[in-house]
Parts: sequence; C-alpha cells; structure tokens
Amino acid sequence: MKNIFLAGALLVCQFSWAQYTDINIVKEVKVKNKGVVVSAHPLASEAGAKILKMGGNAYDAVVATQYALAVVYPQAGNIGGGGFLVGVKNTGEKFTIDYRETAPAKASRDMYLDKKGKANTDWSQNGRLAVGVPGSVAGFFATLKYGKLPMKKLIQPAIDLAEKGFAITEQEANLLNVHQEIFQKHNASTSMAFVKNTPWKAGDILVQKELANTLKLIQQSGAKGFYEGKTADLLVSEMKKGNGIITLDDLKKYKVVERKALEFDYKDNHIVSMPLPSSGGLLLAQMLKMSGYENLEKYQQNSAQAVQIMIEAERRAFADRAEYMGDPDFIEDKTAYLISDEYLRNRWKSFNFNKATPSSEVGKIIPQPKESTETTHISVIDKDGNAAAVTTTLNGLYGSKVVVSGAGFFLNNEMDDFSIKPGVPNMFGAVGGEANSIQPHKRMLSSMTPTILLKNGKPYMVVGTPGGTTIPTSVYQSIVNVVDFKQNANISVNAPKFHHQWLPETVMAEGNFPATTISELAAKGYIFEKVRQLGRTEMILIDDNGNIHAVADGRGDDSVAVE
Ligand code: DON
Repeated sequence: MKNIFLAGALLVCQFSWAQYTDINIVKEVKVKNKGVVVSAHPLASEAGAKILKMGGNAYDAVVATQYALAVVYPQAGNIGGGGFLVGVKNTGEKFTIDYRETAPAKASRDMYLDKKGKANTDWSQNGRLAVGVPGSVAGFFATLKYGKLPMKKLIQPAIDLAEKGFAITEQEANLLNVHQEIFQKHNASTSMAFVKNTPWKAGDILVQKELANTLKLIQQSGAKGFYEGKTADLLVSEMKKGNGIITLDDLKKYKVVERKALEFDYKDNHIVSMPLPSSGGLLLAQMLKMSGYENLEKYQQNSAQAVQIMIEAERRAFADRAEYMGDPDFIEDKTAYLISDEYLRNRWKSFNFNKATPSSEVGKIIPQPKESTETTHISVIDKDGNAAAVTTTLNGLYGSKVVVSGAGFFLNNEMDDFSIKPGVPNMFGAVGGEANSIQPHKRMLSSMTPTILLKNGKPYMVVGTPGGTTIPTSVYQSIVNVVDFKQNANISVNAPKFHHQWLPETVMAEGNFPATTISELAAKGYIFEKVRQLGRTEMILIDDNGNIHAVADGRGDDSVAVE
C-alpha cells in the first residue's frame, strides 16, 4: 500500500497490489473542481474518468463506465441486462432513464410452473428461459441525449479492454473458478472466453475477442448493432439452442422509458430516486419517513433503538412491496398514496419498542407448500456539477450463465424478479403477487435504488449499491448514517449493515455487526442471521464549498477514479 497524491487531489489512498500489475484500487478520494467516477472496478472507473478528461460530462462518463464494466466485470457489468439512471443536471433538471428488461412477447403468467402447478425456480434463474429482453444498450443510447460526446468515443475504452485483455482481480478469478461447471452446463461453445482448463488466478489476462466484435458493431451501427443484424441473429439462435423465447421482433421493439423521478424531502435534503418499476425509491421514501416519526437522530448509529426502528420501517415497506408494486404501465400506480404521511403515520401506529411486530400483522402472507447474486452501481459527478447515479444488473452472478455464442456476452436472468407464483420467493427471498405477475412486454419489479440527494438545489450525495432486495435498505442506511448520525462517507459506506424484508422474519446482519445490539433485540423477539456482506455502496458527498469526497465500498474491488 502506498499513498499517492494526484494533482488537484487533497487526499488519495491508493492500494497497489503487486500481482495486479496494472490495476490500482483507489478506495477514497477528496478533490475539488474535478469530476470523479466510483464503480465496482478500477478499470471501469478509469474509463469514465478518461472520458471526463476528454471533455465529456457525467452522462458521457457513466455510459463509458458501463460499457467498460461489461468487459472487466462480467459478473454484473453488462450489455445483456438492464438498469436505471437517475440524473440531476447542473441546471436543476432531473430525469430518469428506465432501461429495465422486459418479458418477451411469448412470456406468460404461469411459464415457470410445471404440470402439477409447482413453481420451478431453476427455469426462472438459469438458462435461456430466464432471460428478459435486454435494455442496457438502448439505455446507453438514450443517455446520449444528456451527454456531449459521440457513442463512438464512449465505447472505445471498452473495445480496447476486450480486444487487448486486462489482468483479472482475485475476486473475479475466484468467482470464475466457482462457476466453471455451470458455464459449461449452459454453453456448448468451446471458444467461450470465461472457461479454461486450469484455474483462473489474479493477474491472468482475460481477452474477449467476440465481445470486442459485438462492441464494434454497436460502434458502427448504433443501437441497431445490438438489436438488429448480426448480434440480434446470434442472440436469437442462442435462444433456440435451448428453451429460450426471445425473438427478433422482441429485440427490435425494445424501448427505454424516461420517467419522472420519484422526489421527496427528508430533513433539509431533497431526494431524487428511481420510481416504479423499481421499488427502490418508493421503499426508500417509506422507510425514511417512518423512521423519521421516531426522530432517528436521537439515537446512536447501529444502537438497539435505532436498529429496531429501522427494521420495523423496513418490514412495513417490504410488505407493501409484495402487495402493491410492479410495472406502472401494467398496474395502478399507488406511489403517491403509499408515501403519503396520512398512510404512513397510520401504518406506523403498530410500532412498539417492547417487541418485534409479527410480519403477519403488517401484510397478507400467502402460505406456500415447502419448495425448495449480481448488480453494480456507478456514482459520477463532473466538474460542472452534473450528477449521475446508475445501477445496472444481470440479476444473479453472470446472469442466466448463458453467453451468446459468437457475440461473447452474458445474458441476464431477470425474469426471476417477477413473482413467478404468488408467494413463491425469488432468488432474494422476495415474494409478490398479482402486481408483479408475468405478462408479455411487462417490466419485472426491481429493488435498484440509484439516488441523488440535493441540498439547496445542488447535488449533495450520489449513492447506490447492488444486492437485490438488500439494495433499498443499504441505501437507506447509507443515507441515515450521513444525515442523521453525522458520519462521513467512508464510515457511512463501510459500517456494518443489516437488512429486513418482511418475509422471511429473520434480520440479516453482517459478521461485524455490534453483538450488544443483536442480543438486546433478540430479547425483544428479533431473530438475526449472519451474512458475509451487504451491498457494495459507491458514495460521493459534495459539501457547501464544492469539496468532493468519493468512497468506493471496501467490500469489493470497487474503486474511485479522478478526472
Ligand atoms: O433489479 C433487482 O432488484 C435485482 N435484479 C438486482 C440484483 C442484484 O442486485 C444482485 N446483486 N448482488
């Protein structure tokens, strides 16, 4: 480890590990008058920073970072998945871009039930039938409207990384090794870049020629280079190798949707987040408002009282997720009511400091006969004060595990985010019903929560994380850690986190979560389950004087890059 001071940087902690010859993981940066990019991989953050240096703005940088993540972070970065962008321009204009995957035209409500009506989560999670129509590339082109540079330039760093190869990190090597068998099960092609005879190790060079060619087609032909022509043909023939149902027509008809951001006030902050079909912003508003009724700032961060209040806010919000939330183009959008004080104050009446509220008291539980993760977030601010928060996903690690043969990219398994049968948990244990049932062209409900906080009309925090259903609760904690508990960005991101989602009744907590809090709450009826990690949060804080403090989560290879 060594400290390096960059021109214009007040403080840069740089971890330089010998075996990653050209990979430097930068966890924390303080700068002024420069743009910063925080993402899950140092080379992707650098790709974004390079675009800022070339005169691009935050929206150009976030596109370049996403293309680069599709190469250097194949577990979640993608062109075969989907995502959401929340933007606030320095003019005050707010916008969101929804490039969530859609159900193919041939999808149907009961497509994952066997002949006996039993839900088969292997079908919704692995292989070709699990794939939703990808939205990412259309989303990148929709983002161009807010950028300054042509796509040809934004995609170039990704093409170079795919063509020349790059040294993989230890985390990526371990994950690739664990997945070798399942990659082989779902892919016939022997030319697949991700499979090799000897185990992967840190520093191995990953070259992706097929992916480089696909990116070049997009560079030459625009979105049509993905949704039509050779790439589309390869994707559809990949579908036909198994039980996939995506057609050329599904790809040609894919459309992004620009939606009005979900906005609400919290203390002296104005919060701008993603509306439905992500539940993220809505849950965040509900949780912040409910815990606000107890004046959360009176308590210590991660104390038994604060954690109890927050668990109960999470429980009530997630019960509403299961009942009411889905694609607003298909269901009645009840957001305004669900975040109203009239509704939430009433919902909060059953909160009791003496004991845990049983989940059955706050939502309708559908009893089920016993039946038997990956995403990534990018936070960017440019030197002119434009902010972008993007969360993008393949859903599970490496999505459906299917790589489009000849085109070199992983396809998502986002169909599992639908409620495949009322009450049957998805891969994150989330349950749902009619509101999130499968219909052709419908978007599956998400938890992704890319969020920007404004103070006096200017970006104050840019934040988000992966983690499935743990996303909204991690973003919630990251925000209250700063706003209520007055922590800095580093502590807010790296402090131990917890998570509750109504069902199951257990509360997840990271291994280093305070034992005294756990035992005090256990005495009130809360059941805790230790988990390895919750989220990988990327946070940028900007103070009144324009000082920028960017932090990449310590839980992964996440890294900050400065313009
Ligand atoms: O949209 C969603 O909520 C999920 N598909 C996100 C998946 C995820 O965050 C996995 N990462 N760990």
